[in-house]
Amino acid sequence: MRNIPRISAWSSAVGLAREGFPFIYNRCRRFQSDIFEITVPFMKVVCMSGPEASRIFYDPERFVRQGAIPKRIQRTLFGEHGVQTLDDAAHRRRKELFMSIMTPENIQRLSALMHDHWQVGIRKWAATTGPIVLFDEVKELLCRAACAWAGVPLNESEVKQRAQQFWERVDAFGAVGLRHLRGRKARHQTEDWIRSLILGIREGRITVPEGTSAYAMALHREPDGKPLDAQVAAVELINTVRPIVAIANYIVFAALALHKHPECREVLRNGSAEDTELFVQEVRRYYPFAPFLGAKVRSAFDWRNMHFPKGAMVLLDVYGTNRHPDTWERPLEFWPNRFRQWDGSAYNFIPQGGGDHYKNHRCAGEWVTIEALNVALNYLTRHMEYTVPPQDLSFKLSRMPTYPRSGFILSQVREIK
Ligand code: HEM
Repeated sequence: MRNIPRISAWSSAVGLAREGFPFIYNRCRRFQSDIFEITVPFMKVVCMSGPEASRIFYDPERFVRQGAIPKRIQRTLFGEHGVQTLDDAAHRRRKELFMSIMTPENIQRLSALMHDHWQVGIRKWAATTGPIVLFDEVKELLCRAACAWAGVPLNESEVKQRAQQFWERVDAFGAVGLRHLRGRKARHQTEDWIRSLILGIREGRITVPEGTSAYAMALHREPDGKPLDAQVAAVELINTVRPIVAIANYIVFAALALHKHPECREVLRNGSAEDTELFVQEVRRYYPFAPFLGAKVRSAFDWRNMHFPKGAMVLLDVYGTNRHPDTWERPLEFWPNRFRQWDGSAYNFIPQGGGDHYKNHRCAGEWVTIEALNVALNYLTRHMEYTVPPQDLSFKLSRMPTYPRSGFILSQVREIK
């Protein structure tokens, strides 16, 4: 069982640091293989890409998540003992709790809040004489909407600080040094804040509406009748707020795509809801957010000439699967109409994970993300005009997460009624 390309741990560390998002994609193209191995002493690490690889990766008989997420990511981005680290019945129960919040009515409630905050935002930006940084403004706008939706009380005076703390946790994802330390600090700050909210709800000092994630996480009972540990409940409540703030990243990429493709702006301004959906999907396919996902082999199996021993670490290439030639024609072009022909597979388009939202680890907030982008594009194309002054709109693929360096500066914002 060989013929699988292999690279050393050293060359992969250097390659990952230099190339970032396309690290696996570049090697799969170079080796003409959807799979290769990184030789790490005493451990097997396999990188794989494409729809077939993703189908295998989402088979819970073959893979587990326990032990697959590095501690440094749990100590910044996710928090510890959250849904991302669970398997089997414990995962299904916890995921049900998340999905019970993601009902069409609840997503509609969030959408209405986002509409309100975009309207207020546009009025404020139009009244501002100087330029604004869209990324910063949208993080705050989303933080207000997300907290109101989730039942997390937030004073206006706290918005800037809390939005920044949520973002710093996301920004720590691929970081070392100062950015990582900032993420750790932000994790403690947000977890302390939200844990005291959980305790307040349980002790009856704070009332939150039924149907909100604060209510669900604080008052959920496990099968033994006990509530979630307050710290874990805080981690999970944050798991429904922090990623909404992170959608700012996609919104800025959507604004960048409108800027680079003015013909799309015209289509969206005058077109149908379907035109916007196609554009949203292409933003999620084309612009990088999650680079790859990790899991460990549950029990040994063979696939594509490769033996996967129990405990091997496997990385699924999100970036490359969204560009894989088996599915995507001219994958390096931004072309929303490609989604007219897309087969809707749960394995070939995986910006927020693949498989089933209820049974697998696929993102619980995918529908929320799509709705938030729909709302943003409605306002960016139909309810405001603006100038994009000269600025550095490039983004580094070696940085995770990445976004346009300038944060997307707008000037002369005008409201269209
Ligand atoms: C999981 C991406 C927004 C909540 C994930 C995963 C990815 C992802 C790649 C992992 C899938 C896997 O492990 O197989 C994104 C991106 C977002 C986003 C790019 C856009 C900014 C959201 C939102 C929410 C959310 C808005 C909630 C409101 C979650 C949760 C999980 C998750 C709870 C863990 C699911 C599980 O382990 O079963 N997301 N996400 N995400 N996401 Fe998102």
